[in-house]
Amino acid sequence: MTLTKEEEYKWLLDQARSVAHNAYAPYSNFHVGACVLYENGDYFLGCNVENVSYGLSLCAERNALGTAITAGEKCNIRSITIVSLENKLCMPCGACRQWIYEFARLNKQNIDIILEGEDGQAVVYTIDDLLPNAFEIR
Ligand code: THU
Repeated sequence: MTLTKEEEYKWLLDQARSVAHNAYAPYSNFHVGACVLYENGDYFLGCNVENVSYGLSLCAERNALGTAITAGEKCNIRSITIVSLENKLCMPCGACRQWIYEFARLNKQNIDIILEGEDGQAVVYTIDDLLPNAFEIR
């Protein structure tokens, strides 16, 4: 079954939102879920996992990417969807942007970043929009 773009975005937002409920976020009370979608349709989920040593906390996007790599998936990422239960338009932090960029450069393709807008609709950026002139070693 082929989904329209709008149906795909809604499905991805629902996946990310559902896993945000699993976040371990007793310090910030800020619950985030992420869904990494590959071109072949495989997808991987992650939530944020905090620590009493606050700086060690793991973001949802990096958790989802780590799960994908652990499963052996290194091929083309089509999109990463991010949802917070508390904030609409939850932008990825700087560290996560660099992590996402890593897989854009690996496969020489841009990656869509799908967020939940103020009235629940999908808002779509690309990693090149959010991290222009990214760090590189040439
Ligand atoms: N967080 C994410 O999961 N992703 C981001 O891109 C930004 C922040 C988490 C980390 C922390 O557990 C909480 O949100 C508040 O910063």
